[in-house]
Amino acid sequence: MSTEEQMSLFDQSELAASTSANVQPELIPTSAAVPIPSGTYDSIVPIAEHCNVCQRCDLGTTRTHAVVGEGNLNAPLMIIGEAPGQNEDETGRPFVGKAGQLLDKILESVKLDRKKDVYITNINKCRPPGNRVPTTDEVAACKPYLLEQIRLIDPKIILMTGATAVKGLTGDKRGITKIRGTWIEWEGRLCMPILHPAYLLRNPSREQGGPKWLMWQDIQTVRAKLDEVLS
Ligand code: URA
Repeated sequence: MSTEEQMSLFDQSELAASTSANVQPELIPTSAAVPIPSGTYDSIVPIAEHCNVCQRCDLGTTRTHAVVGEGNLNAPLMIIGEAPGQNEDETGRPFVGKAGQLLDKILESVKLDRKKDVYITNINKCRPPGNRVPTTDEVAACKPYLLEQIRLIDPKIILMTGATAVKGLTGDKRGITKIRGTWIEWEGRLCMPILHPAYLLRNPSREQGGPKWLMWQDIQTVRAKLDEVLS
């Protein structure tokens, strides 16, 4: 089907009318050249339905489950990771493997509850084979879903775990060790780059200046800012 034909198929009123019992996958533009405009979705539910049948990039052919996100839909804090790994692909839930368990502990260390205080998602909703970094085209194809999630959840603070999350959301290509712990304003939103928990698993040093120590500094900074913006 040509891009033009897809464009004409992509009628927002029809999309808005789709329900869980009535997903119309043919209405999702399968070419990433076809935009999904801001305001397309009125809740997370149809985003999830569409991600689960999405073929906007080739990751749609190899996924078991799309991993759309989970947590409090009114959370003040949104965490954006890179892409699902094997455990996430199998379960359809973000950050449930070893890195996810460490992320839970990091959140707990500043009394943040993953279910209550946070919404967790990823730049890419489908697992790249072999856990490779998603390509620029894959990131671009999936980005409208993320932008809609951010618009609907409207978090006070966005945490970006690792360089792929920072680049995927803001376009900032600087190395994560350079920019972690510093606030970035993106689209009027407060965003904080932090190290990816998987990096901490590979480099578990707790020494001053080491990855775990840096994470502890950064998560305390985030907690303090959250208390400030919520007070
Ligand atoms: N790593 C990520 O970036 N996201 C996940 O959901 C799991 C591991």
